[in-house]
Amino acid sequence: MKYKILTWGCQMNIHDSETIAGILQNMGYSPADTLKEADVIILNTCCVRENAERKVYGRIAQLKQFKLRNPNLILAVSGCMVQQPHVVEYISEKLPYVDILFGIKNVHKLPELIENARQAEFPVVEVMESSEIKENLPIERMDNSRAWVTITYGCNNFCSYCIVPYVRGREKSRLPEDIISEVEALAKEGFIEINLLGQNVNSYGKDLEKPVAFHELLRRVNDVEGIKRIRFLTSHPKDLSDELILTMKECEKVCEHIHLPVQAGSNRILSKMNRKYTREHYINLIKKLREAIPNIAISTDIIVGFPGETEEDFLDTLNLVKEVEFDLAYTFMYSKRKGTPAAEMPDQIDDDVKKDRLNRLMQVQDAITAKKNMELKGTVQEVLVEGISRGKIKKLSGRTRTNKVVNFDGGRDLIGKLVNVEITEPHTWSLLGRII
Ligand code: SAH
Ligand code: SF4
Ligand code: F3S
Repeated sequence: MKYKILTWGCQMNIHDSETIAGILQNMGYSPADTLKEADVIILNTCCVRENAERKVYGRIAQLKQFKLRNPNLILAVSGCMVQQPHVVEYISEKLPYVDILFGIKNVHKLPELIENARQAEFPVVEVMESSEIKENLPIERMDNSRAWVTITYGCNNFCSYCIVPYVRGREKSRLPEDIISEVEALAKEGFIEINLLGQNVNSYGKDLEKPVAFHELLRRVNDVEGIKRIRFLTSHPKDLSDELILTMKECEKVCEHIHLPVQAGSNRILSKMNRKYTREHYINLIKKLREAIPNIAISTDIIVGFPGETEEDFLDTLNLVKEVEFDLAYTFMYSKRKGTPAAEMPDQIDDDVKKDRLNRLMQVQDAITAKKNMELKGTVQEVLVEGISRGKIKKLSGRTRTNKVVNFDGGRDLIGKLVNVEITEPHTWSLLGRII
């Protein structure tokens, strides 16, 4: 029996798919190369923006033919979309050829759900609200050198535009000893890069019976022998402490990169977004980070067209982008999410205004990204080789400690290893280099 998992959304979801795969492998399933070969297809979904949901619905519609051709095929939908009651209702009624709807916290029940679905005439639904996944579930990791390790589940921040706290539940930290023993086991298996995951890693440990700060956890991960690189995702500007900046500076394994979503450059909009920091606070953080770690790369997320955003507010964002000079920015048009406060706010912005602002923002940022990359020409960078590049010309592809993609010629035997690469030709989205 074979399975195929399709995943949308953030790194958390991608990591959840590794758990789904682990459970299916334990049941004796093996991965299918194509959808056609699969006996079970699982869609692990995202609902952070309407676009994400639309893609999933498109896929479900397409898979109907697969079900018609092969009635024994089990089609399951999981992930954040399923945590919304209106989605469960819609799929159960309008797309009843879906066999299973399960919340990610119910993933340990998958064997039972598949068994039930083989007998049931209607979709089997199992969506629990609790905010944590069981410990010690099997994980089938997709990479042999880089591993993702969850440190907190859920989110307590309730940014007014965001659906994540509603679908992922309240913030819950894993015990430091569970995290460290997972990292130690990974190091023994030969993993060299650890990516710590949470919606807001900076608030890690505050909810524990014996509170532990994120920077303390980071030092403990840094002490694990065999690990060469540590990254973490995502940081919230309101909780980023001076101790964390010092820890990043002092811990040699912590990479010189931080993803620090700013979302907007206007204090009026930041306040309506419920982000709990100001533009000035954010810019000051950037200053402190760069003072402590001069070559640090900084990436961000930005939303344009939040309800009530005026041209002036948008120009504040544009100016912040010019002032900070991010290495990379993920830019989004605001998308209305049912049940969030921003969806009910007056002065929703027209799509063409959002598009126009997005284009202007991207133009400014692309030039900055290109400029930043140009500065790397001639430098030698440590690269962790991830695999073969996606372009037409087959090259090795990997990332610098500052999280920039580098493509270069070399043998497959280098995959999973650290190599030194001289940057010969920087481009906007990647760098070309030569192994030295
Ligand atoms: N916890 C992380 C990431 C959450 S989702 C954080 O706080 O940064 C990833 C990004 O999606 C967010 O940073 C935000 O920029 C974007 N996003 C979230 N909700 C959105 C919405 N309703 N419309 C547009 N973009 C959104
Ligand atoms: Fe969403 Fe804000 Fe939580 Fe990030 S911190 S997941 S943007 S509510
Ligand atoms: Fe999407 Fe859920 Fe992640 S909504 S962004 S997959 S937490």
